[in-house]
Amino acid sequence: MQEKLVAPSLLAADFANIQRDVEMVNQSEADWFHLDVMDGVFVPNISFGMPVIQAIAKHAKKTLDVHLMIVDPDRYIKTFADLGSDNLTVHYEACTHLHRTLQAIKAEGMKAGVALNPHTSVKLLEDTIQDIDLVCLMSVNPGFGGQSFIENTYQKVSDLKNIIERKNSKALIEIDGGVNATNARKLVDAGADILVAGSFVFKSENPTGTIKNLKETIA
Ligand code: DX5
Ligand code: ZN
Repeated sequence: MQEKLVAPSLLAADFANIQRDVEMVNQSEADWFHLDVMDGVFVPNISFGMPVIQAIAKHAKKTLDVHLMIVDPDRYIKTFADLGSDNLTVHYEACTHLHRTLQAIKAEGMKAGVALNPHTSVKLLEDTIQDIDLVCLMSVNPGFGGQSFIENTYQKVSDLKNIIERKNSKALIEIDGGVNATNARKLVDAGADILVAGSFVFKSENPTGTIKNLKETIA
């Protein structure tokens, strides 16, 4: 069975101490680094871009899971590959030719992810699920950390899991937004493989311990 993974989101890290926080994740039981790129157009916020990712990549020793909340992401696929991204996730709502975008991401040697906003039905992935390595279900409206978890996500996870099994796809299910100790186990039981956690990890008193507990909760 697929090991259940924890991906701390550096959006909630202390940007003035980014190297310290990257090292914390390196030393912890976390599996991936989740990096949120926002353009102020697709979402009403701007986070960080290439130079910051380059700085993080210099120190990060785990999978770089890059989540693009930007319009027309095709423009930057090669750039993010060159920066060392292992997974590149684009939004369904931001892609006119999703199938082509997925092929372009894979052609650059990365795993191809598709993120769905809370209002977007998982049924819309029926025709592309075999080409997708990772589906990121947004459990908050993208743009900000620290928002509360949308309960309808559990149903979406199990509906998506059914589609994946029915279509014989190997896609993993990632949950992004408002993940904490209360919903983690229930998400994994519904079929989730990867849990992104920003505030819950970085705003806690002992981030390393919080990651360890989260891993134990979903093991
Ligand atoms: C939200 C981002 C998330 C965010 C999660 O738009 O995609 O990755 O960092 O943060 P929390 O865990 O605080 O909801
Ligand atoms: Zn994210």
